[in-house]
Amino acid sequence: MSAKNLILVGPPGCGKGTQSARLLEVHGLPQISTGDILRQAVRDQTPLGLEAKGYMERGALVPDRLIIGLIEARLGPKDTGFVLDGFPRTLAQAEALSEMLSRLGREITRVFVFDVQKDVIVDRISGRRSCERCGNVHHVRFSPPKVEGTCDRCGGALVQRPDDTEQKVRVRLEAFDSQTAEVIPYYARLGIVRRLDGERPPDEVFSVISAAL
Ligand code: AP5
Repeated sequence: MSAKNLILVGPPGCGKGTQSARLLEVHGLPQISTGDILRQAVRDQTPLGLEAKGYMERGALVPDRLIIGLIEARLGPKDTGFVLDGFPRTLAQAEALSEMLSRLGREITRVFVFDVQKDVIVDRISGRRSCERCGNVHHVRFSPPKVEGTCDRCGGALVQRPDDTEQKVRVRLEAFDSQTAEVIPYYARLGIVRRLDGERPPDEVFSVISAAL
């Protein structure tokens, strides 16, 4: 069977990270999250992190020139497959990805688009708590940790991301509508888009994804 090369597209808080973690656990598909890569760069104070920090804190997209080069080195072997979480986020990123994959003799096999209403997103993001140490994600109501404030996976401290305030979520939603939504028709032309009801519980969303692989 050919490798599963997937893209997860959707507004902030739609569940991309949650489903990527399951795709890794159940189907062994490595997750490439540009958000996680950038947050690590900010923590490490690398040149990329120092430049990206201000954009991320405002809820704006980081410029394409900083993002596009991050992906190729992380793709891994051709037969392993991958899940792109949070990339591509602009048409320029989608075009650069197509060029890169065709040069490598690879292609995207499926694009999952998560549909979630804005009020649900604000509710999810304001209750999200992320592990400082391993990046695992909980929600105070929908996916609470066994011990309050502590990550189930590694025991690290759970914190709120600096861009997870209601005001910044609104800026991020605007960035999705004005810059990211246009990647959906780009892939729809290829007949590989599958839309999901992202408001269903995580297990149900995952079943739909698994069945479509
Ligand atoms: P990034 O980290 O990619 O953030 P995002 O796209 O805004 O997505 P989130 O991580 O907020 O949400 P998610 O969809 O992963 O949802 P999750 O599974 O956590 O990017 C951050 C920033 O980095 C950007 O704003 C930008 O500045 C920069 N950036 C990143 N990539 C870039 C790029 N390519 N180009 C330019 N800039 C870039 O779920 C959210 C919460 O809901 C959790 O608490 C979870 O437990 C809960 N939940 C999940 N699914 C369900 C469900 N089905 N039912 C109930 N609760 C659920």
